[in-house]
Amino acid sequence: MCGIFAYINHLVPKQRKVILETLINGLKRLEYRGYDSAGLAIEGSSSYPLETGKEQMTRIIKKQGKVKALEEEIQVQEDLDFDLVFDIHCGIAHTRWATHGVPNAINSHPHRSGEQNEFVVIHNGIITNYKDIKTFLQTKGFRFESDTDTEVIAKLIKYIYDSQGNKDISFRELVESVILQLEGAFALAFMSTKYPGQCVASRRGSPLLIGIKTKQKLNSDYVPILYKDAITDSRPNASTMPRSLSMSNFEIVGESKEAEYFFASDASAVIEHTNRVIYLEDNDVAAVQDGCLSIHRLKKEEGDMMSREVKTLKMELQQIMKGNYNYFMQKEIFEQPESVINTMRGRLNFEDHTVILGGLKKYLSEMNRCRRLLFIACGTSYHSAMATRQLMEELTQLPVMIELSSDFLDRRTPIFRDDVCFFISQSGETADTLNALRYCKERGALLVGITNTVGSTISRETHCGVHINAGPEIGVASTKAYTSQFISLVMFALMMNQDKLSTTERRKQIINDLRRLPDLIKEILQQDDQIKKLAEELVEEKSILLMGRGFNFATCLEGALKIKELCYLHSEGILAGELKHGPLALVDEDMPVILIAMKDGTYTKCQNALHEVLARKCRPIVICDKKDLEMQGHASRSIGIPGCVDCLQGILSVIPLQLLAFHVAVLRGFDVDCPRNLAKSVTVE
Ligand code: UD1
Ligand code: M6R
Repeated sequence: MCGIFAYINHLVPKQRKVILETLINGLKRLEYRGYDSAGLAIEGSSSYPLETGKEQMTRIIKKQGKVKALEEEIQVQEDLDFDLVFDIHCGIAHTRWATHGVPNAINSHPHRSGEQNEFVVIHNGIITNYKDIKTFLQTKGFRFESDTDTEVIAKLIKYIYDSQGNKDISFRELVESVILQLEGAFALAFMSTKYPGQCVASRRGSPLLIGIKTKQKLNSDYVPILYKDAITDSRPNASTMPRSLSMSNFEIVGESKEAEYFFASDASAVIEHTNRVIYLEDNDVAAVQDGCLSIHRLKKEEGDMMSREVKTLKMELQQIMKGNYNYFMQKEIFEQPESVINTMRGRLNFEDHTVILGGLKKYLSEMNRCRRLLFIACGTSYHSAMATRQLMEELTQLPVMIELSSDFLDRRTPIFRDDVCFFISQSGETADTLNALRYCKERGALLVGITNTVGSTISRETHCGVHINAGPEIGVASTKAYTSQFISLVMFALMMNQDKLSTTERRKQIINDLRRLPDLIKEILQQDDQIKKLAEELVEEKSILLMGRGFNFATCLEGALKIKELCYLHSEGILAGELKHGPLALVDEDMPVILIAMKDGTYTKCQNALHEVLARKCRPIVICDKKDLEMQGHASRSIGIPGCVDCLQGILSVIPLQLLAFHVAVLRGFDVDCPRNLAKSVTVE
């Protein structure tokens, strides 16, 4: 996740310093989306159209660190004339959350077509076929300067532009040719010295909106959609659609054409300028040329709307940053249908049922020959290892040890050269995990990182690893990082098993259900209101026990941790198999118990646990398969979740618990995003 922001002023004169302030402020609003580096590009000359002989190169300024660092970097650009006034200008800006390449100035955006900065682009998302495009462009003589996927876009547009010779091609058409070649997810904004004062933006899978500011009223609340080639559409009324139309047909501003446009990843960046916005849809291409905005699509598809509505935002700034949510944690829980896709993107092939974790590929045979696999982590990250241990053992047939980083170090655990040690950490900075890493490094083991933060210490100090790509997690309580860590570990287990014929069916079943996950998660999230009601019943409790076994024991531990850290009440995850060995003594009619009982190998044993607590007059809340009416019949309250393959059920069963902890905390009046005494990144032992 990154933040993109572009600002175009047309016949609204602005000083360069005001333009820069506008871009920087836009980025500051988007900083929560990523903050490891930032950059912007502004036009070089204020004359329009550009005159030869004038300094007209686009100026790019980039800096590692937060937007503040970029702001300071701009202030020391002594050769920039900050007072220069631009009647027409396009500027683009970006705040980065690294996926490809460590956070530094070179890898940060905007990226450029070459030393002349003819085309520059900002990007939010992941281009999965960037390696193929890069190889192609290298054969055409392009030299790349960064490690990013984005840079191919800037080079590709230049390549297409040059290949056109002198043919008149609009900026928008150029961008359309580029996006046809891209696979993956993106929101993009382009500017170019070849098309001064213009901006073209597009999205597929990543959010993008346009803010519109005009003195005069818009002449319509709808911007019609243009289709590149209506003639290719074979549907009956296709021929009545426009084939080629001039830009002026779609202007939405009045006679004077004075207008300002803002492209942004979300509304928080534009609300201080205007409340009139258009939310772009996937595959829309929006172009600002001569002060007019037009929206195009490459192809008309079934169910397409004929226009995009100009909406009026009614929200406050603070609200907008969190989207429709009141808290970051809530937003992050609801982002999971999308974050799990980002973890799998470009790695899982759902057609031929294969997995490639690019970062681990060349270590695979060494891993297969190892003495044992160790998974070392703290808190929620530790639970992700617990949750996948059974599958890891099943698919690798290797001894698997799961270790809490602090305890692992306290014990001075013996480590050998042929051990493979995984360090799982959302932040990539947790002190205990980092110390464990260095301890294992001294002993010659292979070190593998599973982290959400490219460029973090764990990512840099491990030999190899997997970036889970869940997007920045702001809430202290880890939610979407857990499900993405879980999936990354499942993908690793699948990759280790890839060549085994005897388990082909099992692999297929898991990969097919990984594909279904986003929909299944959405289905659970729809029960939010019901879970909130349950939270209202539990809000006064002093303690909550969570019980389960097998694949769902980790869910109990993780659910209990969420309840502890957010609701400040005692909660314990109990292995249902241990019930009779002590915890059952806690159970009576007053003790709230949540039992997780899914239809897997432990189902009958979970039923036994249910009857054991029922016999003690307990009124358990059961999380079970939505079709399991028998289990629901015994429960005092139940949450039904969709069924899926046993080893992935933990991804689904944890979500009601995330929601439950969230609602109880809110009802108790606690700060869910910043629970007391805790920090997002625990960099002390
Ligand atoms: C790459 C992209 C990723 C994209 C995927 C599929 C990069 C940096 N990443 O991922 O965004 O989703 O293609 O298109 O280009 N590493 C460590 N320690 C860690 C984590 C990673 O050493 O803790 C190393 C890896 O071994 C690898 C590099 O960092 O060499 C990038 O890792 P990762 O992003 O997971 O690689 P890909 O799966 O190739
Ligand atoms: O950044 P890490 O994953 O290394 O952090 C480890 C724990 O501090 C973390 O998972 C913590 O338990 C969560 N905040 C719990 O929600």
